[in-house]
Amino acid sequence: MLKQPQHIAFIMDGNGRWATARGHKRMEGHKAGVDALYNLLPALVKRGVKYATFYAFSSENWGRPEEEVKGLMALAELVFKKELKKLVKEGVRLKFLGDFSEKSKISRSMKKIIQQAEFDTAENTKLHVNICFNYGGQQELLNAARELCVKVENGELVADDITTDMFEAALYTAGQPHPDLMIRTSGEQRLSNFLPWQLSYAEFYFTDILWPDFDANALDDALDKFAGRDRRFGLVKF
Ligand code: IPE
Ligand code: IPE
Ligand code: MG
Repeated sequence: MLKQPQHIAFIMDGNGRWATARGHKRMEGHKAGVDALYNLLPALVKRGVKYATFYAFSSENWGRPEEEVKGLMALAELVFKKELKKLVKEGVRLKFLGDFSEKSKISRSMKKIIQQAEFDTAENTKLHVNICFNYGGQQELLNAARELCVKVENGELVADDITTDMFEAALYTAGQPHPDLMIRTSGEQRLSNFLPWQLSYAEFYFTDILWPDFDANALDDALDKFAGRDRRFGLVKF
């Protein structure tokens, strides 16, 4: 049987370059990027993928020009609101991974939309979609460490007894399987603060295709490569 990933994580990179190459503003690339994500969902379901995680906005992306950050926030609000009904119907369960705390820069209206989307799709089981938004891997690890520190401070836990399972349970992805495959588009070969804990044993696949052009055929190429990989998890295989 062909080896299939249960969970794929995507770094959706290259929206800006896609737009610039066409003489458009960068925001056009982000809009096309949303369409690419949406169009990929049925292909993922068809290929038996159960979890898909998409990197949509990093903690570091706040440092981009104000116009782009504002545009991205407005686009995200619009998409999460507009597409929600369709996603509910299509059996997609949505979860948002990132910092949505009181202190975060995420607006109150966005937080409401996110909560609603998670609530409305909570019973869906066809495909579990994580959207990493205001997400940073280092921040996620720090957040988990803090959570465990509070338990130690309260006397609920002894530092020496902390296990990887407990740490895992304090991450945004608690209860989910780790990604088997990480796909990054646009030719860049780095993690950019994406899921450092969860990708520990993932297979990495890099393609020069810019995210707005990533489609079901491109996915199949990645799946073919994945099927040929030998995952050893530190063991010896005969
Ligand atoms: C990825 O595309 C989307 C976000 C980071 C929001 P980019 O906007 O990084 O596109 P390039 O890398 O500049 O082409
Ligand atoms: C990573 O892409 C973040 C997202 C895709 C949301 P970036 O374009 O921000 O990463 P760098 O700056 O090239 O490392
Ligand atoms: Mg980029």
